[in-house]
Amino acid sequence: MNEPNPTVRLRNPWRSTHPWVFQKVVEKPAQKPRPGSIVEIVGVDGEWIGRGFYNGHSRIALRILETDRDVAVDQAWFERRIAAAVALRRDLLKLDDTTDAWRVVHSEGDGLSGLVVDRYADLLVVEFFSAGMFRHREWIYDALRAQFPGCRFHAFADEHVQKQESFDFRGSEPAAPAIITEHGIRFRADPAGAHKTGFFADQRENRQWLSQHVAGMRVLDLCCNTGGFGVYAAVRGAGEVTGIDIDEAVLDIARGNAKLNGVRPRFIQADIFPWLRDAGARGDQYDVVILDPAKMTRDRDQVIPALKKYLDMNKLALGVVKPGGMFATFSCTGLVSEDEFLGMLRRAAFYSGREVQVLKIAGAGPDHPFMAQVPESRYLKAVFCRVE
Ligand SMILES: C[S@@+](CC[C@H](N)C(=O)[O-])C[C@H]1O[C@@H](n2cnc3c(N)ncnc32)[C@H](O)[C@@H]1O
Repeated sequence: MNEPNPTVRLRNPWRSTHPWVFQKVVEKPAQKPRPGSIVEIVGVDGEWIGRGFYNGHSRIALRILETDRDVAVDQAWFERRIAAAVALRRDLLKLDDTTDAWRVVHSEGDGLSGLVVDRYADLLVVEFFSAGMFRHREWIYDALRAQFPGCRFHAFADEHVQKQESFDFRGSEPAAPAIITEHGIRFRADPAGAHKTGFFADQRENRQWLSQHVAGMRVLDLCCNTGGFGVYAAVRGAGEVTGIDIDEAVLDIARGNAKLNGVRPRFIQADIFPWLRDAGARGDQYDVVILDPAKMTRDRDQVIPALKKYLDMNKLALGVVKPGGMFATFSCTGLVSEDEFLGMLRRAAFYSGREVQVLKIAGAGPDHPFMAQVPESRYLKAVFCRVE
């Protein structure tokens, strides 16, 4: 017989359907379960609420995984949840028809709080955001192996997450890169050689949509990373493509990606701020400008400075869009809402003296779902505009 799970009691009545329970509403258990243990969660009056991960060191003290009392959270539970996440992508979304690079598990969006898994051909990149997922990693790897026979793993956790969640993980041995094909375009996903997972699958549908409007045009891809938008544009017949990124290492991969597809965008290592100021002063203009900067903050107190930075870069970017040209602007800062982002864009248009006509608002691809009750998992905002 398995040991029964320890019980953790809440201090306040619980009416939420959000999977996170913060430390301040959780009673300190007499014997603290180890960070990431699976526990039974009971309310202030002793009624059963759910089953999930406990972490006495984290601000998120409980992550509720299961609310059906008859369903154990065990290895079979992880197998079923991961199988369901894969079935969503394969059977409903039919992602295999267009790509072999997709998000397999999007944390709360798939009912697996604190776990993100991306798939790049045979390479699975596993990122832990909670001590609970890290603690049960062998179950997770087994469940993933069952879905992707013969797969390779690259596993890691950001340092700030390890600190917040109180676990130590140096990461797996760096895995060799994978070559993926997305809408017929090839990319190298190199989690060991680039930021984060090595390839941003979340922008897939946005790259595809924009690339259908660039034939013969002069395209500028700002914060291009490994060349996603720029390489798409070049393959789809753009007249000239320039990609800018501050990080030389990602540009090496971008150049390789261009080669993989037989196209020749120009990639330049630069900080977009001075580069755009110079380009504006020279009177450079582009038919299509893409601006996809990195996440600005994960600190609620820093949202206003982040919006100021978005404003500055969007103003500068608008300054190099040809009259009648297109501007695609993105924010992957989860704490910046769509409304705030659109407000920033309105101000950027005003201060740069341009009329911005919004054509389409989008987000991450459907393999990055979020639950209605957990809006925090929505992070990417995409706004496609025409600029007069
Ligand atoms: C979210 S990624 C872009 C993803 C890319 N559009 C794609 O589809 O793969 C953000 C990129 O912004 C770059 N970056 C951040 N600050 C920058 C700056 N001031 N100037 C130029 N690039 C910058 C980072 O190096 C990173 O590669």
